[in-house]
Amino acid sequence: MKMETRVFPDLEALSRGALDELMRILKDSVAQRGRFAIALSGGHTPAKLYSLWAQDEKYKTKTPWDHVHLFWGDERYVPRDDRLSNYRMTREALIEHVPIPASNVHSLPTELSDPEKVAETYESELRNFFGFEPPAFDLQLLGLGGEGHTASLFPGSSALEEKQRWVVSVEVPAKPPRRLTMTPVVLDCGRNTFFLAAGADKREILAALRSEPDKGTSQYPAARIHPRGPVLWFLDHAAVDWQDRFGKAPGPK
Ligand code: 6PG
Repeated sequence: MKMETRVFPDLEALSRGALDELMRILKDSVAQRGRFAIALSGGHTPAKLYSLWAQDEKYKTKTPWDHVHLFWGDERYVPRDDRLSNYRMTREALIEHVPIPASNVHSLPTELSDPEKVAETYESELRNFFGFEPPAFDLQLLGLGGEGHTASLFPGSSALEEKQRWVVSVEVPAKPPRRLTMTPVVLDCGRNTFFLAAGADKREILAALRSEPDKGTSQYPAARIHPRGPVLWFLDHAAVDWQDRFGKAPGPK
């Protein structure tokens, strides 16, 4: 699998590198379409990027927040104030600290008693937002699980075969097990996609992904997403097997 990678010494540098790219895409999107629609990822890795976006004046003041629309590529089926909620993580790291209009924060209605209803409701919100256009986010942030999952698309999930629906409710082998996730129907429309992967625990899966054929039915969901637009992999030294990549250890001789 061909990977356009950007490798950084650590998570802080990786997050700044991704934010610099995000700001470029944001500027172009607002200039061309009057808005910047971003699908956020959950888990631990993006939290640093979110807090830098909120705390560093270089990014915060240059962001036209009333043109920014936040969505989530996946969410855990827990209340929005639950510690496992991707929305809560983003609220605490970013949303609470920036002047973004509440109507531009499109979180999943996980308070609904039926997860299928949450998926349908969020899909309608996406269809309202994108109108008749394909659901092409200006930027999609995606993470990577040790077994190759991304968003909440896990190996063997029927959601990977979805051809109609934009959002589905899934049961996954992780905590919490009930999740909502965008499907490849949406993710394959992305104008720009960033995979963020940091830490030694991502080294094995990244090496496995590299040896995967580009097209076709990989067992790894992250290799099953084929966005229309460019895909960039933001990695840190710990996640990269230097010996395998460069035949030498990182840093000066
Ligand atoms: C989630 C995510 C998931 C995440 C990966 C990587 O809701 O958990 O969206 O896809 O990106 O599990 O998680 P880490 O960044 O914590 O390693």
